[in-house]
Amino acid sequence: MANESVHNQTPAKRSGFATALGALIATLGSAIGLGNIWKFPYLTGENGGAAFLVLYLLATFLVGLPVMISEILLGRAGRANVVTTMRKLSPSPRQPWWLIGAAGALSAFLIMAFYTEVAGWVFAYVVRSLTSNILSTDPQVTLQTFNALVSDPFQSLLWQWVVLILVGVIITFGVAKGIEATTKRLIPLLFILLLIVDVRALTLPGAGEGLAFLFQPDFSKISATAALIALGLAFFKLSIGMGAMITYGSYWKDDQNIPSTTLRVVLSDLAVSLLAGIAIFPVVFTYGFEPAAGTKLLFITLPAVFAQMPLGNVFIFLFFLLTSFAATGAMVSLVEVLVAFANEQFRLSRKAATWITVGLLALVGSTAAQSNSTLAGFTPFGKTLFDLYDFVTSNVLLPVGGLFIAIFVGWVLKPEQVIAQLTNGGTLSNHRVVKMFLFVVRYISPLLVLVVLLDSLGVF
Ligand code: PHE
Repeated sequence: MANESVHNQTPAKRSGFATALGALIATLGSAIGLGNIWKFPYLTGENGGAAFLVLYLLATFLVGLPVMISEILLGRAGRANVVTTMRKLSPSPRQPWWLIGAAGALSAFLIMAFYTEVAGWVFAYVVRSLTSNILSTDPQVTLQTFNALVSDPFQSLLWQWVVLILVGVIITFGVAKGIEATTKRLIPLLFILLLIVDVRALTLPGAGEGLAFLFQPDFSKISATAALIALGLAFFKLSIGMGAMITYGSYWKDDQNIPSTTLRVVLSDLAVSLLAGIAIFPVVFTYGFEPAAGTKLLFITLPAVFAQMPLGNVFIFLFFLLTSFAATGAMVSLVEVLVAFANEQFRLSRKAATWITVGLLALVGSTAAQSNSTLAGFTPFGKTLFDLYDFVTSNVLLPVGGLFIAIFVGWVLKPEQVIAQLTNGGTLSNHRVVKMFLFVVRYISPLLVLVVLLDSLGVF
């Protein structure tokens, strides 16, 4: 099981996923979440549409995929939590590679601080769609519904706490098994529902314009900032750069084909994002929404497409419900990183580690929750705290983490070890794939991350 106590088990007792498909689906459960449905569309809208998508695809395949393969292979080679794995695999105990695990814990904490807030909005919309009519094609009306929620300091906090407690309960009851079973059923459902919404969106009058925005690149919109944001999004969406996938990899089966299964995860993750984008941008251009509306984009545009569907109020309920499950799957994997870390570093029991983490998240997270209301005026570095946590994790911590993971796998780990993992001890005949991987992870991925990071600092 993915999320069961990792630390008290000897390698022999680690159960792993029952099937290769189980490993694929659990990994997808971490990857698919608000990153796909909320973040991808709004960042694409803010950064110029198709040109951003091109940058994003480059980041995904030249950096995201190789780093994800690296994490999974490290996890399966180490068969332990992140810190122990990095200690075990580093050539000398004096080299501080385990810091990747510690930095990952910090990333997980800061991501949770704002992620729980957005998840709270999703939960609130699940309930709202039952108790009132939130459907409308009028941008003013849907905006008002959203603002009423986020500008109310009490409601923002309340929903965040609901989310935090739910995640805490899931983790303490060790019901990761249940999560895996639910995710298994719900990801296909989410997919189908997105397809249905897409059909409706594509028959709206503004569909052509929406698709052109999403798929016809205007390369004048490419900038250093857009490149950094695209890179950060790739890391965030794939749950990489912080060790979560090292933990997941530790449960992958020995005969599982790492490169091809990881590629399937990346492609499915991409498909869900594109489907979300196709649902949203036709609406934007049909009803006069602002593509660069930012974090609220999903919440203000979807009520408009559902308003144009038979049984729209049922569908919007289902949509937010499925999204809340996807978000929960991702949050469980994030808190798992923290609990594993506290359990390992501070020798706390899993239960204590979980509730201390949840308590601290409620404290720090509340500053993100209040950033549309009581703390709206508090903007260090020109950003609200919500935006700051988001920026620092996606655009600094995760890429730096990914950089070191790529360097470790490309340059520190013995190539034989990498090859053994990627070919399953020589039983797979995928030598071209392995060669390509080694080349990209050594030369391309680290260099790209470095260039983008330095470029955004204005070095060039
Ligand atoms: N990938 C998740 C999403 O898209 C978020 C996440 C990031 C989960 C990092 C785990 C680690 O929503």
